[in-house]
Order: sequence, then C-alpha cells, then structure tokens
Amino acid sequence: MATNALPREAWNSRLTFILAATGSAVGLGNIWKFPYIAGENGGGAFVLVYLVCILLAGIPVMIAEVFMGKRTRTSPVLAVEKLAAESGQSTRWRWMAIMGVIAGMVILSYYSIVAGWALAYFPKMISGAFVAIDDAGSSALFNEHLSNPWRLLGWHSLFIIMTMAVVITGVTRGLGKAVEYLMPILFVLLLILLGFSIYQGEFSHAVKYLFAFDFGSLTMDSVLAALGHAFFTLSIGMGAIMAYGSYMPEDTPIAKTVLTVAALDTCVALIAGLAIFPIVFASPAIEPGEGAGLLFISLPIAFGSMPGGIFFGALFFALVSVAAWTSSISLIEPAVSWAVDKGKATRLKAGIFLGGICWLLGIGSALSFNVYSDPWIFGLFNWFEFSDFLTSYVMLPVGGILMAIFVGHMFGKSALLESMDIEGWLFDAWRFVLRWITPDLIKIIFFLGIINIFL
Ligand code: PHE
Repeated sequence: MATNALPREAWNSRLTFILAATGSAVGLGNIWKFPYIAGENGGGAFVLVYLVCILLAGIPVMIAEVFMGKRTRTSPVLAVEKLAAESGQSTRWRWMAIMGVIAGMVILSYYSIVAGWALAYFPKMISGAFVAIDDAGSSALFNEHLSNPWRLLGWHSLFIIMTMAVVITGVTRGLGKAVEYLMPILFVLLLILLGFSIYQGEFSHAVKYLFAFDFGSLTMDSVLAALGHAFFTLSIGMGAIMAYGSYMPEDTPIAKTVLTVAALDTCVALIAGLAIFPIVFASPAIEPGEGAGLLFISLPIAFGSMPGGIFFGALFFALVSVAAWTSSISLIEPAVSWAVDKGKATRLKAGIFLGGICWLLGIGSALSFNVYSDPWIFGLFNWFEFSDFLTSYVMLPVGGILMAIFVGHMFGKSALLESMDIEGWLFDAWRFVLRWITPDLIKIIFFLGIINIFL
C-alpha cells in the first residue's frame, strides 16, 4: 500500500492501464522516429534487429519494470530504494532510477520540439497549404517551418504547457479518459493511410525495403540504434512504465498486459512504416534516409492528393499530437511523482519547476534546426542530436542493463513468483532471459556501438 496519507490514485480498470501504458509507449517514437531511423539505417536488417531487441531485451525489462512499480506502489526512485532494502542490497541502486528521471526530462525537452511540429501541422493542413503539393514543395514547406526559431519555440512552449497541465491535475484522472477514446481513432486513421499507400504508392517496394534483410548495410551503430529504439518505443529503461505500474490495479496480470502493450506498440510502428515508405518511394525528391523530417514531408503529399485530404490530414496531425501528449506525460511522471512522494512539493509546484527545466533544455533543440545546426558537440552532434544520442543510445540501454540485473539477480524466485501472473516454463524463460541474455546482449551492443560511433 501507499505510504503517504492520501489514498494513492489508481487506474480504473485493467483496460485503462493497458490504454495508459499503450498511450505512453505509442508516440512519436512509432510514427515519427521509427520510420526515419529505419530509413537512415538501411531498412530491413535494422527492422529485424529491432524486433529481436524488443523480444530479448524490451519485453523482459518491461515486465521487470512493471513488477517494481506494482510491488512497491510508489515513484521509481523510492520504489528502487524500497526494493533494495527488501532484498538486502545497497540503496545506491537508487542512482539507476535517478538516471531515469534525468533521461525522461532530457527526452521530453527534444520530444516537445517534434511534438510542436505536429501541433503546427494541424492548422497548416486546414489552411490548404498542402493541396496538390508535390514532393519538392512539401520539403520546401517543412524546411521553411524549421527556419524560424521563434516559431519552433512557440509550439514547444505550448506543448510543454499542455503536458504539465495534465501532469499537475494527476495522471490517472485526465489521462485515463483521453486514451480510451483517442488511441483507437489513431489506430483506425493509420489503417486508412495504409490503405491509401497500398493503393497509390510503391507498396511492394516499401515492403521489400522494410523486410528484406540486407545485412551488408548493417553497421554496429545501426544495431545500437535498433536497441536504443526498442527501449525508447516501449518507454522503458527510465522509470515511466514503473511509475505507471505503481498505479496498476491489484488484480491486473503483469506479463499478459505487458505483452499486449508491446504487441500494440510494434504493430503501430510497422503500420506507420508501411504507410510512409510507399509514398517516399513514389516521390523522387524524398530519400528514405531523409532524416528527422521524413514523416512531415512524405505524408502531407498523400493528404494533398486524397479526396478529403484536408480533413484527414488535419485529423492525423491532431492525433499524432495526442499520441505525443500521452507519451510526454509519462516522461516527466517519474520526476514529478518523486518530488511529491518525498513530500518536497505539491504536484503543482513540482510540475512548474520540472516542466520549466525541460522547457529550457528544449531551447537548444529548437535552435538545432536553424541557428545552431552545426555538429558542435564532439564534432558529431548538434544539441537535438546529442540529447537523442545521450538518452536513446546511452541512458536507456544502461538503465535497461541495471534493471535486468536488479530484478533478475537481486530477487529470489519466490519473491518474483508472488507478484507474477506467469508460472511454469514461461516464468522460467522470462527469468532466464532477464538474468543471462538481456544484460549481456545490451552490454555487447552498447560497447561495440559506442566504439563504432567514436572511432
Ligand atoms: N515511447 C514513447 C514513444 O515511442 C516515448 C517515451 C520514451 C515515453 C520513454 C516515455 C518514456 O514515443
């Protein structure tokens, strides 16, 4: 039970938990990032490695994370302290969760910039700017959008305010309802886009591109990108899912629920890829490795040539904004709930202060698309790229290794079995992978990937 005086919030039902966790997992990572990094890393082989990472690292760690939250019913940092005490380990394990708190805030700072693009594309769609646009025109419009730092900052500010408004009100109240209605609509809309792409675009080329495993194009840093993305897309390695797990109803089964969420998340990413690449291949001015603008350049062309495209286009970017919104809330929740559970601040004060820090960090990312776009950090990254590199390539994988070791090795079998809905060989398989495969797999990919990037 909760240690604080007020009764702790809880999701209304198992379904709300699934939707909230899916709301956290499904976001810009699936719709914006997955297609663009798959394109930058050559397609098929990257996708295969990503799927293997989801299976051997993502799902085992996600189960471990929900376990930690549900068992302790408190915010991630306190949860880890409590579990360390329970299993006779050093409370220094708390640094694993503190790193997660920081990772979440850094991710939010640049996530919000991209979410701001989606927000801005809603009125842009309605204005008819994309009607009958060609690929070159769409690229030009996007580049024009990026060129003005003030405009990017304005949308960034709006998105941070939207996020903090929900976080301050309390996660379970506002969020549970929103995801119940909006996530299914997003799903249907992606299917409509997929239909359009099959009908109008180079669909078979896209399928080949995403699913033909050309290992020649795979480098060690693409493998690290795939691993990092597996963590990013499932919202794991930093405490978001642990925080949500702490609100999970008692009778909700952990493993089954995690599998449902991971499956939904993977489907959305693959559908987004299959909707975007047929349009890319039908457009000579867009490269699959286009980079961060891929989604914002390719899909508007489809909307521009579709009957009802203004309506569907506006609806699509509204829903992408909502998907980003339900994820961003979980990015800052570990930090805010820590401050609150420690009795240091109200949700209001913690939200304003911590949201303010994310806003400040995000300024660097807004400027990375115009004034400071040069790679000034290690000669490799601008601020936006560095924030992404540091979190997805370093902090989330390292968080994942630590969580796998913590839950896999510091807890006896009986303590885990008590809280788990799986038993028999399924339980043994999960624990075996978590103990003996996940940590080493991440370590190997991490070191080889980092060496490859810097040498
Ligand atoms: N999973 C989210 C997405 O794919 C991003 C996220 C990462 C959210 C980490 C919470 C924690 O967009």
